Amino acid sequence: MLCPPGPQTVPRMPIQWTVEPLRSRDEIDAVLAIEEASFTSPWTREMYLAEYDNKGVSNFYLARTPLGEVAGFCSFWRVLDELHINNLAVAPEHRRAHAATALLGKVLEDGAKMGATRATLEVRHSNQPAQRLYERFGFTVAGIRRAYYTNPVEDALILWKEGLP
Ligand SMILES: CC(C)(COP(=O)(O)OP(=O)(O)OC[C@H]1O[C@@H](n2cnc3c(N)ncnc32)[C@H](O)[C@@H]1OP(=O)(O)O)[C@@H](O)C(=O)NCCC(=O)NCCS
Repeated sequence: MLCPPGPQTVPRMPIQWTVEPLRSRDEIDAVLAIEEASFTSPWTREMYLAEYDNKGVSNFYLARTPLGEVAGFCSFWRVLDELHINNLAVAPEHRRAHAATALLGKVLEDGAKMGATRATLEVRHSNQPAQRLYERFGFTVAGIRRAYYTNPVEDALILWKEGLP
C-alpha cells in the first residue's frame, strides 16, 4: 500500500457516513479521483479494474456522505483467516470527520464475518495521521520493510491487528 502523510488538518465534527461495498465498476472513477488526490504513486485504472474483477478475494468498500457523495474508500483482500488492507484513503476535503474510522471499522467487522481473525497493512514511516488511526484500532508494529516505497523512497512499517473484529 502506498501511504504518504495526510494533510495536517484540524479535527471536524464527525458526520453520519454510510459504508458499503462498491456497487458497480462505474464507481471506480470516484475511487481513482480520491487515489490520485491522496498518493504520490497512485494505482492506475487498470490496476483497480483488475482488483475489482478478482472476485472472491478482492473487496472494495466506499464511505458516502448523507448526500451519497463518495468521500473515501478501502480495498482489501481476505485470504484464509487474514485481511490484507491494500489501500485506504479519504478525499482531502472530507478528512478529519471520521470517514476513515467508519470505513476501517466496517471493513474489520465484515472481514471477521468473512472468516478473518487478523488484519495487516503497510504504512509509510512518516505517515503519522494514518498511524494514529491504525493505533486507535489496535494495530501494532510487527516489522519494517526497508525502502518499500518510492517517490520518495521510504521504509514501510508492517502493522498487524490480532483478534478481529
Ligand atoms: C489517513 C487518512 C485515511 C485518515 O482519514 P480521515 O477520515 O481524515 O481519518 P479520521 O477522521 O477517521 O481520523 C481518525 C483519527 O486518526 C488520527 N488522524 C487522522 N488524521 C490526522 C491528522 N491529519 N493529524 C493527526 N491525527 C490524525 C486522529 O487520531 C483521528 O481522530 P480525531 O480526529 O478524533 O483526533 C487520510 O488522512 C488520508 O486519506 N490520507 C492520505 C492517504 C493515506 O495516507 N492513506 C493511508 C495509507 S496507509
